Amino acid sequence: MCGIVGYVGKRDCTDVLINGLSKLEYRGYDSAGIAVFNKNQKIEVAKSKGRLQNLVDKMNADGKPMGNAGIGHTRWATHGEPSDVNSHPHSGGRVTIVHNGIIENYKEIKDYLTDKGVSFASDTDTEVAAKLLDYNYNGSPIKTIMDTIRSLEGSYALGIIFADHPNVVYAVRKESPLIVGVGEGESFIASDVPAVLEYTKDYYLLEHEEIAVLDNNGVKIFDSFGRPIQKELKTADWDVEAIGKGGYEHFMLKEIHEQPTAIRNTIKPRIKDGLPNLEECGITPQVLREFRQIFIVACGTAMHAGMMGKYVVEKLAGVPVIVDIASEFRYRDPIVGEGDLVIIISQSGETADSKAAMHLAKEKGAKTLAIVNAMGSSIAREADMLIYTHAGPEIAVASTKAYMVQIAVMYLFAFEMALAVGKIDENECRRLVSLLEKTPDMIENLLEHKETTQYIAATLINADSLLYIGRGLDYALSMEGSLKLKEISYIHSEAYAAGELKHGTISLINEGMPVIAVATQQALFDKTISNIQEVKSRGAKVILVCRDSYQPEQNTADMKFGLPDFDDMLMPMLAVVPLQLIAYYTSVHRGNDVDKPRNLAKSVTVE
Ligand code: G6P
Repeated sequence: MCGIVGYVGKRDCTDVLINGLSKLEYRGYDSAGIAVFNKNQKIEVAKSKGRLQNLVDKMNADGKPMGNAGIGHTRWATHGEPSDVNSHPHSGGRVTIVHNGIIENYKEIKDYLTDKGVSFASDTDTEVAAKLLDYNYNGSPIKTIMDTIRSLEGSYALGIIFADHPNVVYAVRKESPLIVGVGEGESFIASDVPAVLEYTKDYYLLEHEEIAVLDNNGVKIFDSFGRPIQKELKTADWDVEAIGKGGYEHFMLKEIHEQPTAIRNTIKPRIKDGLPNLEECGITPQVLREFRQIFIVACGTAMHAGMMGKYVVEKLAGVPVIVDIASEFRYRDPIVGEGDLVIIISQSGETADSKAAMHLAKEKGAKTLAIVNAMGSSIAREADMLIYTHAGPEIAVASTKAYMVQIAVMYLFAFEMALAVGKIDENECRRLVSLLEKTPDMIENLLEHKETTQYIAATLINADSLLYIGRGLDYALSMEGSLKLKEISYIHSEAYAAGELKHGTISLINEGMPVIAVATQQALFDKTISNIQEVKSRGAKVILVCRDSYQPEQNTADMKFGLPDFDDMLMPMLAVVPLQLIAYYTSVHRGNDVDKPRNLAKSVTVE
């Protein structure tokens, strides 16, 4: 959603805040702002609608706040349109705050404060929290924070400064993530580790309702009763280089290229003697044999990885798998309970709906397994079992490498489960594992031949709408290909099970409409080719993603992206790469902001 940062130290605070926010823009980018204690110990605020660069330009023109302590924010609007006045920080008089999350009872509080004569300048829930803090302020910041959070419902990570406590930054959180970075003679708060990585790798994970106080003497943390507590200092294992573009034009392209390494890092520690081994994640053959059915619950791209998981687990292990969108699962009273496994897939580990779905599954007595990329995130910490994907930080809003490792983990999981329940023997399991181990090299080869995808993308740039079709695993993959294209190119597209098209949607096909057909599954190949001919004969322009060895007859495809021969089961790991690249280059050709598509945020911590 939004990204927040804070700093206390010797450096130029504005520079540190802007730098930190630039690493958090993936969380939201419709406005940005900072509040800094200036040399006269007064709070100076600068904020602007639009990208962070607008704020920088504004400060370059008007002068920037100079000081050594302050807070900053990059916003993804929830309450109130993106505008200068709705941008954070918000001030309540003596108290100035930045906020990530949603204060659900803000209207009630606003009415209460309005009755008391308090007035409001913005439409935000955040200003309500700032005014409430100010209203409750009794000279003791910690006591005031403790009293105020008792009245707040919903989610929040707050960075708070008090006008009469210069150069001190306070922070508190509930639901929304917040870390406290600890450097040499300086400290930080941030929504996510990449914001501080350039300065320190050491950080505390702030827990619900804990209060952090950052001043020139360092960091102190208090529990919700105001008692000082000691916390374990964690060390991030990400490099600073991992959060730069490394010479690529966009993070998305860099992250597509990082996929082979991400797969290696994710699967290698989970393979022993050629067989999957997920014991360190709490998953043993005995545990796996207990489950009568599996639910996979996730949002967006992670849900598409779940779709892939369903096909693979059902095919190999013969255990029924239900894939659910987290926002649906949590409200549809799912028939889930003891004896069921609920797998939550999430890159960020903070997605509000996925988190709520996990809580519901636990309440109903199911076991939960999280497949998460962000270390120490809420979902990672709260699930019964955990498999970390090792994609490293994913910055582009459109997910690529995180999806790739999510499906790699689903494969490993399916292999292990199939072996545990006796559906495959050790030899077959070793064969499948060795195929999975080959995928990074094969993807590296594919990435050396991007020209075809550039060319295909060039033919799509003026399309109003297109379809992705496929069967089985190719259908699951089409859903991801279609989402990738629409989120960054803004061209309408839909994914359809190829055999379902004729039951209505085929009426959309008109002369020249692009249809991307994915046909990697040999057993279904002829069926898909028949469906392709159905759309072709109605004027569609067909782009076929299939084995290179297949030579389409005239009237089957207008363009082809050829894939190497490989096992059907693992083919999607290769086929997703051209789909990602087609989406990427279409977005580039259309002049869009590839890494920060409009209206989206990478981490969706609200419902
Ligand atoms: C947002 C992002 C998507 C992502 C989804 C789920 O919508 O834009 O790229 O797939 O959230 O996020 P998660 O962090 O739970 O994987």
